Amino acid sequence: MIAKRVSVFFLVLVIATSVVPVPLSAQGSNVSPVAPRKELVASVVREAYDKFRSDTSGKNADYIPALAEVDSKLFGVAVVSTDNQVVTIGDINYSFSIQSISKVFTLALAMNELGPDEVFKRIGSEPTGRAFNSVEAVVDMPTHTGNPLVNAGAIATASLVSGKTEDEKWNKILAFYSKAAGEKLKLIDEVYKSEAATNAGNKALSMLLAKYERIYSDPFESVDVYTKQCSVGVNAIQLARMGATLANNGVNPATHEQVIKREDIPYILSTMMMAGLYDSSGGWAWHVGLPAKSGVGGGIVAVVPGKGAIAVFAPRLDDAGNSVKAQRVIEYVANKLDYNLYSPSSVGLK
Ligand code: DON
Repeated sequence: MIAKRVSVFFLVLVIATSVVPVPLSAQGSNVSPVAPRKELVASVVREAYDKFRSDTSGKNADYIPALAEVDSKLFGVAVVSTDNQVVTIGDINYSFSIQSISKVFTLALAMNELGPDEVFKRIGSEPTGRAFNSVEAVVDMPTHTGNPLVNAGAIATASLVSGKTEDEKWNKILAFYSKAAGEKLKLIDEVYKSEAATNAGNKALSMLLAKYERIYSDPFESVDVYTKQCSVGVNAIQLARMGATLANNGVNPATHEQVIKREDIPYILSTMMMAGLYDSSGGWAWHVGLPAKSGVGGGIVAVVPGKGAIAVFAPRLDDAGNSVKAQRVIEYVANKLDYNLYSPSSVGLK
């Protein structure tokens, strides 16, 4: 009887596996059981690209003069899956400044060094509901730092990174970002110089943090390290791979290196969900339901845990400082591919 049941089970299994097509992404040695098929992703990404390519709403950031000079028409999309399949379209080789997206990775580095409890104690993780560079938030919030993704919290997070000299800290940050991207990244000197010459607001934030004893190295040195980290150049593929490293439990899907500690991933992703798009993070969670981070350079990366990441670069921003086209493309792709983490069907419920 038992032998009969076992053989029926295997018969059903053989039939099932021969009729259910194995997704491309689940073939080969580095398989992801949940990454969607490459052809499907490619066709949805193309639809989104075609739908939004002529959208001219928003405008380049200009409070950092070098960003105003970037061609507003540039538009690139890259998706990297946790099994390292890459789908791209548009201007995917253009190297743009990572800006605030860097904050996610400095947070990861600080947690690698200090652990999440210490980082939470020193920085905190509460939404400010205000602009990314808000001074009022520093004054009003009990933690003063807000969270690691607003400027004040990010400068304080950069001040946590250890090193005997400023150069040592900066080189450590750049090397860490490069490991997450799977390629050596470089500073865009022109952007760094432009921001360094116009960042009085961030210097003021750092002094305010010092008043509240919420910065952990020299304030202006920390702003300089932070300004450099924001000026790191990435293209859409590199950014998507950094996101895919977060999606893949901290392991870079191309190099297989454990860059970010697995146990730190939930803290990072929940912080991105809560504050990744600043004062429009609530609307983003409502419509898209994915942890994401934007930068005023025009990039946004959204992470789909276990599956991969989508990065979009398009310089025109809305009033909150988030790329307009990038938000639209990610929302479109996430809806079509059922990526919203809060959607019952995204976890297999009917
Ligand atoms: O500190 C700044 O203002 C910039 N380096 C980064 C701001 C930013 O990217 C906000 N993001 N949307």
